[in-house]
Amino acid sequence: TRPLRLAPSILSADFAAIGEVVRGLDLAGADWIHLDVMDGHFVPNISFGPDMVRAVRRLTPKPLDVHLMIAPADPYLAAFAEAGADVITVHAEAGPHLHRSLQTIRALGKRAGVAINPATPESAVEPVLDLVDLVLVMSVNPGFGGQAFIPAVCEKVRRIGAMTAGRDIEIEIDGGITAETAPDAARAGANVLVAGSAALRGGPERYADNLQAIRQAA
Ligand code: DX5
Ligand code: ZN
Repeated sequence: TRPLRLAPSILSADFAAIGEVVRGLDLAGADWIHLDVMDGHFVPNISFGPDMVRAVRRLTPKPLDVHLMIAPADPYLAAFAEAGADVITVHAEAGPHLHRSLQTIRALGKRAGVAINPATPESAVEPVLDLVDLVLVMSVNPGFGGQAFIPAVCEKVRRIGAMTAGRDIEIEIDGGITAETAPDAARAGANVLVAGSAALRGGPERYADNLQAIRQAA
């Protein structure tokens, strides 16, 4: 029932060539474009902010899937909405008022997502299921691309699938997704697969093959 979607992340792109990267991913069959926003506080790395979302918005009509790894998130939600995000995902661990953050995203007219780190149980999202369109399960500790997939999160994905049965909620998995790990993630019930390094490896002329390999495997 949940459609398989590939959401390549631009995190490991050459930002000097962002136009070529985004147009290339679009042509290669990306369903969504995933944007990893990092603040050097919630995660130990800094990436980019709303201006990058605005730039990518001008490069593709595909849905922009904005993953906020920032704390606090609330002061910036309107800026990401205005920049052209379609899905805005906040971390359950990012602050004490997750419910308010999700309400704010919905009030801005955007699809709302909640993300959980590998060590966070699925019970953290249960109280807010009425407010979300997507649950993002981290399969690495957030902060960097190119890390190894943590297989233990597949069981959690399966439990979230059961918890959200009958609801119109997408289940996204993010971190270490390759043609080798995608089958387990998909079998566990994830329907949105984020891939950073495995999608971008080899440059734009490889994107279509990279995405095809992941899709085929899943
Ligand atoms: C990690 C990010 C991921 C990451 C994925 O903090 O949320 O989206 O960029 O990159 P890979 O696929 O290389 O793990
Ligand atoms: Zn991400």
